[in-house]
Amino acid sequence: MNTRVIAVADNKGGVGKTTTAGILADGLARMCRKHGDDANVLIVDLDPQGNQADIFGVRADVLAERLCIGNVLLEPGDVQRLQHNIISLDREEEGWPRPNLYLLPASRNLEDVTQDLVVMTTMRTAKRSGFDLDTVLADALSPLLGSFAFIVIDCPPKLDTLKRAVYNFADEVVVPVKADHVSLVGARQHTDDLYALQQEDSRRFKARVTLVVPTMMPSRQVLSSQVVEQMQAFYGRDLVSEPVPESVYVKEAPAAGGQTLFEYAPSSAPSRAYAAIVERIFNG
Ligand SMILES: Nc1ncnc2c1ncn2[C@@H]1O[C@H](COP(=O)(O)OP(=O)(O)O)[C@@H](O)[C@H]1O
Ligand SMILES: [Mg+2]
Repeated sequence: MNTRVIAVADNKGGVGKTTTAGILADGLARMCRKHGDDANVLIVDLDPQGNQADIFGVRADVLAERLCIGNVLLEPGDVQRLQHNIISLDREEEGWPRPNLYLLPASRNLEDVTQDLVVMTTMRTAKRSGFDLDTVLADALSPLLGSFAFIVIDCPPKLDTLKRAVYNFADEVVVPVKADHVSLVGARQHTDDLYALQQEDSRRFKARVTLVVPTMMPSRQVLSSQVVEQMQAFYGRDLVSEPVPESVYVKEAPAAGGQTLFEYAPSSAPSRAYAAIVERIFNG
């Protein structure tokens, strides 16, 4: 099975990365089920806040088992450890069947591990031992390639240390941009960073921006549609999805016992917008 690795990333916080990554993974898993194959989808949380566990209502299990991607980044090749840190998101007994959806969660531990990684890169022995910060994600997670149809990565706002590793491992980048001018400036910086990496080494940093998603679009605001037009002018019309409306359903869903938006409010306006985005990404 060919695995598509999709990073959801932007330089700014609060633009809808975590929301979009969770909904995208849930939606892609649904599409796989609809198409009758038993292909699995994995969401990788790279933000030490670990909010993907909240979105899917599994925070207690993640804490109890001390699951975290930080446990695996320093031990590439330990497949058993990798599998142990992945949790099923299926909650069929509670009415939320997600048989083919999995999470590699994050916790505060990821912060410490990231610092260790920085120290390791500055050590003179790093090169000799084969340690390379650019490939740390690929080295740790490549045993999963082939087992999942999609791996969706929820990136933290400050990607600094792991930025190169994300763009080395990911094939595609989805960029959520809040429909206001300041966020658009942040998104441009983010794509400039990515293009700079590609110029440095286009094979090593193979990730390409495949979709820009205008998020939290206020229903009646001329200004926001101007921002969407600016996005289209900057990225090209084909790269910008339809905007996701601002809606209280998006905030309510995780608070309602960790339901996804598609479970909580399937026919709501944001659900319909995200369903179209999922379909577009699924069809590549
Ligand atoms: N379409 C939307 N309508 C209303 N609130 C939203 C929408 N998308 C995201 N939010 C809310 O905005 C806040 C920030 O979103 P989040 O996905 O955590 O952003 P990030 O991961 O980029 O920091 C969260 O409280 C989330 O529930
Ligand atoms: Mg986030």
